[in-house]
Amino acid sequence: MSARVMLVLPTETYRATAFLRAADALALPVVVASNRAPSLAGLMEGRVLTLDLGHPAESAERAAEFAARWPVDAVMGVDEASVVTAAHIADRLGTARRNPVGAVEATRDKRLLRRCLAAAAVSQPRFVELDVNADSATLDEAIRVVGLPCVVKPVDLAASRGVIRADSPAELIAAAQRVAALLRTLCADGSTPPLLVEAYVDGAEVAVEGLLRDGVLDIIAVFDKPDPLTGPFFEETLYVTPSRLEGTTLRAVIDTVRAAAAAVGLRYGPVHAEVRVTGDLPVLIEVAARSIGGLCSQVIRLLCDDAPGAERSLEEVILRQACALPLGRARPVDGASGVLMLPIPHAGVLRAITGVDRASRVAGVTGVTISIPAGESVTPLPEGDRYLGFVFARGSAPVAVEAALREAQSLLQVDIDSPSAGQ
Ligand SMILES: Nc1ncnc2c1ncn2[C@@H]1O[C@H](COP(=O)(O)OP(=O)(O)O)[C@@H](O)[C@H]1O
Ligand SMILES: [Mg+2]
Repeated sequence: MSARVMLVLPTETYRATAFLRAADALALPVVVASNRAPSLAGLMEGRVLTLDLGHPAESAERAAEFAARWPVDAVMGVDEASVVTAAHIADRLGTARRNPVGAVEATRDKRLLRRCLAAAAVSQPRFVELDVNADSATLDEAIRVVGLPCVVKPVDLAASRGVIRADSPAELIAAAQRVAALLRTLCADGSTPPLLVEAYVDGAEVAVEGLLRDGVLDIIAVFDKPDPLTGPFFEETLYVTPSRLEGTTLRAVIDTVRAAAAAVGLRYGPVHAEVRVTGDLPVLIEVAARSIGGLCSQVIRLLCDDAPGAERSLEEVILRQACALPLGRARPVDGASGVLMLPIPHAGVLRAITGVDRASRVAGVTGVTISIPAGESVTPLPEGDRYLGFVFARGSAPVAVEAALREAQSLLQVDIDSPSAGQ
């Protein structure tokens, strides 16, 4: 009998399809733990579990009652919104190959993350913790510690939401007020988590994907982010792998991510990290206990030592490891690949995205997925947290992939009715 895996899938996640497909390919029995019951839940006894994912400890108790009837061998959170609850459930069930709850929690609270990294002397920006209602004297003091430019950010959001660069004391005050307002809209109970102010780290940014096996981090892919990410908001656009960083720098980046994962105490499963390179020196921006977000994992195709010639998805590799199925070292197939995340240019109602057919026909482009339907309201960064869609490309070299994605982008027109139009 195959291992039964519990996938903790927030209703809004981009990651459901990829993980469910991978489980299907592996013929793994799956339990979907989610915050909303599917309409056919009555027919799916033992395969669905409705949880309030916002309450990890309570979710763990409910999962334990469930597992007493339908034993669960592995628990997998798929994104930032589910990893902490998944860690609590795994801990409560005592599954093998799980992360310490505290380690996962540290990846979801940027204060804890910074403290862990500081304790282990991992290279990171100078930082100061702040109350959302900090007065201007406190903000001036923060600038004295971290310098200018600086970056203000909420401690527990993701996808660059609420992350704002400030170049002057006045900009820091405005940025902190803007983030505080965002946090007030998100915290229904009136509690507002604190903020971090960090030194702005200049330089190229890369994203590192890895998989931990008993504390040892295997690197799966390193992505360059060839569009400059200089703020004031930090919307992700291009990701291209393999990285074009020079070998010694790349090794230093990887060493920094390994040190960060160890400092936090992660032991198993996927790791996604962001690192900036200043001069030749890596600076850790963030490490997360999850795989790459959005639909981006589609561009990762892996070959593993245990099955030469068989291409696997990232999710298949993650599930194999979680369920102790055969898995050799994973490495990307030959060539280069990349993804363009289509940012939301301004607020309003999405009317249409045209040019999708032409963009799809660009040599090297392997797919275009629009992920927000026409008619929906859209909100750009720093308040928003979604993308209009994704363009995927593959080629012989990173430079060709980047060119294909840029050409596709130039062919896409986004038509958004702005709220002020016609006034
Ligand atoms: N201290 C910093 N210096 C320079 N850029 C930063 C800094 N902190 C964040 N950024 C930029 O903002 C992005 C999002 O910040 P991050 O801390 O990773 O938050 P999130 O959890 O929302 O992804 C980063 O990928 C990076 O481009
Ligand atoms: Mg990040």
